[in-house]
Amino acid sequence: MNCKIALIRGDGIGPEVVGEAVKVMEAVGEKYGHQFTFVDVLMGGCAIDAVGTSYPEGTAEKCRACDAVLLGAVGGPKWGHATEAAKRPENALLSIRKDLELYANLRPASLRPALADACPLKKETAERGIDLMIVRELTGGIYFGRREKYMTEDRGEEAADRMAYSEMEIERIGRRAFELARLRNKKVASVDKANVLETSRLWRKTMHRLAEEYSDVAYEDVLVDNAAMQLVKDPGQFDVVVTENMFGDILSDEASMITGSIGLLPSASIGDHAPGLYEPIHGSAPDIAGQDKANPIATILSVAMMFRYSFHLPEEAAAIEKAVDQVLAEGWRTADIAKPGEETVGTVRMGELIRERL
Ligand code: IPM
Ligand code: MG
Repeated sequence: MNCKIALIRGDGIGPEVVGEAVKVMEAVGEKYGHQFTFVDVLMGGCAIDAVGTSYPEGTAEKCRACDAVLLGAVGGPKWGHATEAAKRPENALLSIRKDLELYANLRPASLRPALADACPLKKETAERGIDLMIVRELTGGIYFGRREKYMTEDRGEEAADRMAYSEMEIERIGRRAFELARLRNKKVASVDKANVLETSRLWRKTMHRLAEEYSDVAYEDVLVDNAAMQLVKDPGQFDVVVTENMFGDILSDEASMITGSIGLLPSASIGDHAPGLYEPIHGSAPDIAGQDKANPIATILSVAMMFRYSFHLPEEAAAIEKAVDQVLAEGWRTADIAKPGEETVGTVRMGELIRERL
């Protein structure tokens, strides 16, 4: 296979973790006879510094010319105060998701066997296992609705953000969730706030229609406040969790926390057309940038997702996941997942250990 991959190395630890992921891809390519070509794409805070905008002209076109996009991390306190959209790294993230129509964000949260004791929940809860997939709607809702700020006569300044969802948007993300559940444990929990929000009532109605169609999949509605509670009380009950953009943003951070390390979790953002975008869930961690301390595993596991969902290479994906599990089982740890006093390895060494086990 011949694949072209856009690399958005980004800010903070982004370049370091992407560097290790690229080496893993090259090792897989060599072993399984695939050819990977890489194209660097400038986006995020580094783009603001270089060309004055976080999302330079042509960014989406450059990515569209590739089969998949790998992103490290964008943002950092250095660019945290800007109000103008072009000067905000996060704005580039929202723009690329919209431009590439990446409406489905898959965020797995699973407790890796070797790290079960990193789970901050009760021992009995961890023992039950955690293996859930959050399917977050990524190009609609309040993050993309009209934003307003205006002066009122008697209440000072006022701001508003509009949350809108169409049946089409709900149906396509719903289908993704049900299809995924069929490949997993055949359970879908749809999270909404239908006791308050009109968008949620449309969400629920649409999901119920799909649930009838996918009658082989067990379905339940969960209110978002209850979902937040259930995630820490009994996460083992969930398989696929599908929800709108903002609820998914919040719940996926919560889900990542209960697995013990955000440094381990990958994500995929996909639409109906190539390319998909793959990135670790963690941020740019500027405090440890450039020190060979970052954990490259989340980015390396993002490559496994890329192989599975964009290149349809499940065997290669599984080989990467197995190599990661093996390194962890042997006791190798980066600082973020080490227990006090435990010996640690750096970013580059961790990457190397994983490659050696492929
Ligand atoms: C995420 C991030 C982004 C989001 C921000 C940085 C715009 O929190 O990927 O979850 O909210 O989608
Ligand atoms: Mg987030």
